[in-house]
Amino acid sequence: MPVITNIEDLRILARKRVPRMFYDYADSGSWTESTYRANSADFQAIKLRQRVAINMENRSTASTMIGQKVAMPVAIAPTGLTGMQCADGEIKAANAAKKFGVPFTLSTMSICSIEDVANETGGHPFWFQLYVMRDRDYIERLIDRAKAAHCSALMITLDLQILGQRHKDLKNGLSAPPKLTVPNIINMMTKVRWGLGMLGTKRHGFGNIVGHVKGVENMGSLSEWTAKQFDPALSWNDVEWIKKRWGGKLIIKGIQDAEDARLAVNSGADAMIVSNHGGRQLDGAPSSISALPAIVDAVGKDIEVHMDGGIRSGQDVLKARALGARGTYIGRAFLYGLGAMGEEGVTKALEIIHKELDLTMAFCGHTNIENVDKGILLPGTFPV
Ligand code: GLV
Repeated sequence: MPVITNIEDLRILARKRVPRMFYDYADSGSWTESTYRANSADFQAIKLRQRVAINMENRSTASTMIGQKVAMPVAIAPTGLTGMQCADGEIKAANAAKKFGVPFTLSTMSICSIEDVANETGGHPFWFQLYVMRDRDYIERLIDRAKAAHCSALMITLDLQILGQRHKDLKNGLSAPPKLTVPNIINMMTKVRWGLGMLGTKRHGFGNIVGHVKGVENMGSLSEWTAKQFDPALSWNDVEWIKKRWGGKLIIKGIQDAEDARLAVNSGADAMIVSNHGGRQLDGAPSSISALPAIVDAVGKDIEVHMDGGIRSGQDVLKARALGARGTYIGRAFLYGLGAMGEEGVTKALEIIHKELDLTMAFCGHTNIENVDKGILLPGTFPV
């Protein structure tokens, strides 16, 4: 077993252990993947100011996101097909997040259902991410299920009315459960650990959908499903009725533009996430970290601004926080951990990020994350 010291180690192990179609699904972007790459490259371009001879004892990374306490300003992002990286993946990731003291967000497109996660985490509150589909009765039932499961925030994703083309998913014929074609069978046979896990669970399809939408027994490919079911006519009016029906904390995900950020404020949401969907939707869009400062300038006083995209280390979290993001999300960073080592791997990913965050904060002369601001960044290296 290799010594794991950073997120890249987890990625390499996950690539060995997860069948290609699911590893590729997690670790790719749309079209040329330029936005996907820019998300992390632009973090690297921002430089930090080292300070010395400042008392670095008694440090704290604790903070809040939407008023909820977090051990560090990092939440687990909603990611589709998480339970295909590893058997019962959503339950494992939710349990790791619960133990670490950070929020877990369950995707509509998860394998484990809302009820599965609620039961298997002992009712610990988690956040639920909603995709708005054409079938509004189904959406109402989904919101009610999230309420019944005591989810403590609803996150509406606005940037996936249509699906960005991901070449690898089309070439791999991505579906859940995977189609038993000869290349898939050959590839899965080499992933013994993954296969044994999958034999030990019944959760192989989209748990929030199959059995809950009339006539949907098997969803076929993700691209066909989204084209048929996701609502391309989604508007801010939908956000209004969803907010009313939900009645709790609301997070809007997928904002890149200051004008949209203003509309998100008007919607009455508690937070918005600056996001380009991990570079999986509009390729050619700016990186999240480069889009963040203008949005914070435009609406930062009126709403809590969060960000995701490209975070692979605690240093990235610190830079985002310095540029005004109250909270951040990890998607791939936790998926690599999950694919590599299950729940233990997600815990490892959180520990790695926490340690990097804590030490970097100290190097920059701070002991409390609440006091970190732009002053820790080298002028001229930001905005990117
Ligand atoms: C969303 O579910 C995605 O595939 O990016």
